[in-house]
Amino acid sequence: MIDDNAAYIELLKDHVGQQVTLKGWLYNSRAGGKVLFLIIRDGTGLCQCVVEKGKICDELFEQLRHVGQESSLSVTGLVRADERSVGGHELAVTDAHIIAPAANYPITPKSHGIDFLLKHRHLHLRSQGQWCIGKIRHTVIDAVRRFFNDNGFTLIDTPIFTATAGEEEQTLFEVDYFGSPLHLTQTGQLHLESAAMSFGKVYCFGPTFRAEKSKTRRHLTEFWMVEPEVAFIELDGLLELAENFVSSVVARVLQDNRRQLETLGADVASLEKITPPFYRLTYTEAAEVLTSPKTADFLAGQLEEMRNQKKHIEDRIAQLEEEQKGQMKQWKRDKNAAELIEMRSELAEVDTKIENNPKHAQLAAEFRWGKDLGGSDETIISQMHDKPVFVTHYPKKAKAFYMKSDRSNEDVVLNFDLLAPAGFGEIIGGSVREDDHDRLIARIKEQGLSVENYEWYLDLRKYGSVPHGGFGLGIERTVAWLTSQKHIRQCIPFPRMMDKVYI
Ligand code: 4AD
Repeated sequence: MIDDNAAYIELLKDHVGQQVTLKGWLYNSRAGGKVLFLIIRDGTGLCQCVVEKGKICDELFEQLRHVGQESSLSVTGLVRADERSVGGHELAVTDAHIIAPAANYPITPKSHGIDFLLKHRHLHLRSQGQWCIGKIRHTVIDAVRRFFNDNGFTLIDTPIFTATAGEEEQTLFEVDYFGSPLHLTQTGQLHLESAAMSFGKVYCFGPTFRAEKSKTRRHLTEFWMVEPEVAFIELDGLLELAENFVSSVVARVLQDNRRQLETLGADVASLEKITPPFYRLTYTEAAEVLTSPKTADFLAGQLEEMRNQKKHIEDRIAQLEEEQKGQMKQWKRDKNAAELIEMRSELAEVDTKIENNPKHAQLAAEFRWGKDLGGSDETIISQMHDKPVFVTHYPKKAKAFYMKSDRSNEDVVLNFDLLAPAGFGEIIGGSVREDDHDRLIARIKEQGLSVENYEWYLDLRKYGSVPHGGFGLGIERTVAWLTSQKHIRQCIPFPRMMDKVYI
């Protein structure tokens, strides 16, 4: 009989020496002759449950020996503190109940290819990696809301069906709205600007959609964005807001999720450096950096490092392949096989980087003032910094119609992108908004947009226009940076990508 001292694994520290019941799923198990080690997960953590023959009835012992991965169980036992055990505690089992058995769970502790895992995302969410990322994403979202709520911002829910394009028209998803075309929102910004004229400091937070024909590691077609908008703010104020905001989110994740960051192999030491002020570069300075000999040397140094890394990986693969030919225990063979898959995928990645390095070096060397910064340019600049970098004052012709021109140099706009460090790249885009009615009309026309569609937006410049601005931070890109994920598809539970929507 299971007693009902139900406990969660994350709270076991409060129950040392007590009898508790855990309810969860079998994550992994190992069997000796007279003892079973069952690793149970319950949504709050992992716990090793030790079942000794003789301490429970033989029939149950045999059932537990054969119960499959991901079977649901309740397990009762005495909580012991044990430093070596996963989570720092273990359970000396006195009783157990198999709630629902699972057989042939498709995702085994061995490695699987990414395609397989994406097709099985509904199950893969139970893996340690996805669990850690999900916990961190939760903290990021909570920290985002906390920051704005604590700093006098009002949450405004902007619409998902929209008639006006906030960003490039080519990336709008069209929907049939009772026979008329409408679009899925690309940004809440335009509606948010109207709310800023009522509430002063506002933010919206929701899903956004872009029909971007990009299959890169940084693009999803559906992603979540938080956007603050502030009345009476200039560019410097926006940069200060953004660096305080990002630093507060990083600090919260370090405080709440250190263990998950470590499990994921994230670069915790680098995250600890994320405090204001961040670096500031104008676009013109960034262009000079890209074309400088120093950058060419930096990239050549990287190429050298990547070649060494490749050699190292190849040696390890050869060693593992050699070992696989010999005799070994099954668990060791599985472990080797998993590492081999990992190593081969790392090798493929290094090969791609080695192939791309000269192309990126050439693009950087040939960079000309006026072009928008490409993904590889951003990567180079962000690789050269150990803290986030603001790139400001982009050429007007490369940017959206709503950005305010710099009145002291009409060729550039008062905008910024924030690049996360160590090669991660852009996580925020923002700007001061054009607040002059006639200039805004001129910009709308210049970009070939219909003035009629923006009549309501132009009203904001007719009735008490004020300097104002804001920015948008992509949640998945931020989580990918914090957790050192290579691809942002790992940072949303059910990713939608240009070429594939799996489940
Ligand atoms: O730079 P973006 O396009 O800026 C805007 O949408 C502004 N209207 C925001 C504002 O000023 N209120 O996008 C902002 C951020 C990017 O820096 C990136 O983090 C994320 O949104 N983002 C994407 N994330 C994933 N997949 C995509 N396809 C993304 N496009 C943008």
